[in-house]
Amino acid sequence: MMKVLQVCSEMFPLLKTGGLADVTAALSPALTTLGADVRVLLPAFPQMVKALDATNSVAIELSNGHWRGPGSAPAVLQQGLGPIAGGAVPPHTARLLRLAPQPDGLQVYLLEAPEWLDRPGNPYLNAYGHEWHDNAQRFALLGWAGACLAAGLDDSWQPDVVHAHDWHAALTPAYSRALRDRGVPAAPTVFTIHNLAYQGVFDAALGDRLGLPGWMQGFEGMEYWGRLSFMKAALLWSERLTTVSPTYAREIQGSEQGAGLDGLLRARAADLSGILNGVDSSVWSPDHDPLLDTPSFDIDCLDGKALAKTALQTAMGLETRADALVLGVVSRLTEQKGLHLLPPVMEGVIHRGGQLALLGSGDPVLEYRFRELAWQYPGQVAVQIGYDEPASHRIVAGASVMLVPSAFEPCGLTQLYALRYGTVPVVRAVGGLADTVVDANEHTLAMGSATGFVFGPLTAHALWLALERALQVHAHHPEQWRLLQRHGMGQRFDWSVAAQAYLALYTGLL
Ligand code: ADP
Ligand code: GLC
Repeated sequence: MMKVLQVCSEMFPLLKTGGLADVTAALSPALTTLGADVRVLLPAFPQMVKALDATNSVAIELSNGHWRGPGSAPAVLQQGLGPIAGGAVPPHTARLLRLAPQPDGLQVYLLEAPEWLDRPGNPYLNAYGHEWHDNAQRFALLGWAGACLAAGLDDSWQPDVVHAHDWHAALTPAYSRALRDRGVPAAPTVFTIHNLAYQGVFDAALGDRLGLPGWMQGFEGMEYWGRLSFMKAALLWSERLTTVSPTYAREIQGSEQGAGLDGLLRARAADLSGILNGVDSSVWSPDHDPLLDTPSFDIDCLDGKALAKTALQTAMGLETRADALVLGVVSRLTEQKGLHLLPPVMEGVIHRGGQLALLGSGDPVLEYRFRELAWQYPGQVAVQIGYDEPASHRIVAGASVMLVPSAFEPCGLTQLYALRYGTVPVVRAVGGLADTVVDANEHTLAMGSATGFVFGPLTAHALWLALERALQVHAHHPEQWRLLQRHGMGQRFDWSVAAQAYLALYTGLL
């Protein structure tokens, strides 16, 4: 049985700041269904501690930089963490807990380091929205713990493969490499890039605290414009690299989207692949969605969708017009998401009878711009700033259109959720959006493959042209709209497919 350790810093519903959490939550059970023996290494952020059951757990101690494993951990592991955990730098105590299987079967190693991890709020940012000053060590520790498990720290279970996610877990392959160089065999790493724009880049002076040999921090190593990039470390030392859509896998090998690492990614092209994310149907399905208080619906009967629309309009204070095309947005408000294109076209949308229901938070300038629109168009534009799980389901279910005009998008999940709920995506042709939405034109409509509206240039004008087409079909060709919904609802972006691809990748490493 293939033993796989997932290393990540968020997981729905324990802790979520974005799509990463949805993916890490769905991947483990999907792999388990395929017969893999999966465990997850998570940092003990307060949200994790609160949600996990830690009774009957087994502690694997780490104190003053010395692992005190329960059994026969290789000697080098006993001294290896000194630079991260020792000296004047906290944490003076850190340990791994091997939890008993959770009620849903999830098997967890919880990395405890109270001085570093027991902080409220966002796991990466302080209350002022700035990165925690000690993020380099905090997440180095996660990587170190992953590498130690890869090297057999827990003598009752050693993974065959370690799968690390995003920059937070990106030092796992670096420490694994360092251990191997010191004669300690460690399981190979698969590393998934969920977003190359967040790299974990730190001051080079922090290098002393990482406990990695000098060459690994130099130009041949994780050096990045005079600083240190955790992401670069993973791209160098993971045995396999993946990202979350085939198109993004190609895009990041070019200078425009390569974030300075495209050369390295090109050099590793043979080891890099794109595996599309799936949809967790236990969370996102219109025929059983516990977060909706309206009747369920499915591909054959959309009555429930009309009710979901009215419920959405009522909940958000929009006029309850059945004929309105409701644009839905559920998103982080950052440059990535391209939502600055939306305010300039809203007047046109409203003029044509459209409405906007937006849920999101992030950039204060964008937040203010959308609040302003809501004041300007009461009853037609509704804006909820914040993070709200039930509200996100209401929008996905009740909107007519899900808008995702991203500048770049590694995969994107909201367009996939929308497809399930008969909510027609309007997206920009980048990354996973390009891989998952088929533009409606005469040909694709006739072929039965059209599922949404896709535009190219990152301009308000191009967005407007796509929205105009959507408004037109919605108002004047209801039978075509119904076809789009049917095609979309018939799409299957299942986790079983993605999990099979990952499993094949793991198997190839043995
Ligand atoms: P990203 O990970 O880049 O933010 P994705 O589309 O992959 O984008 O995933 C975003 C996830 O976060 C989705 O599950 C979406 O529903 C959720 N989400 C984003 N913003 C909010 C919000 N304000 N409230 C609730 N859920 C949100
Ligand atoms: C990142 C990306 C998003 C992707 C998600 C899960 O947050 O921005 O496109 O869907 O990770 O892989």
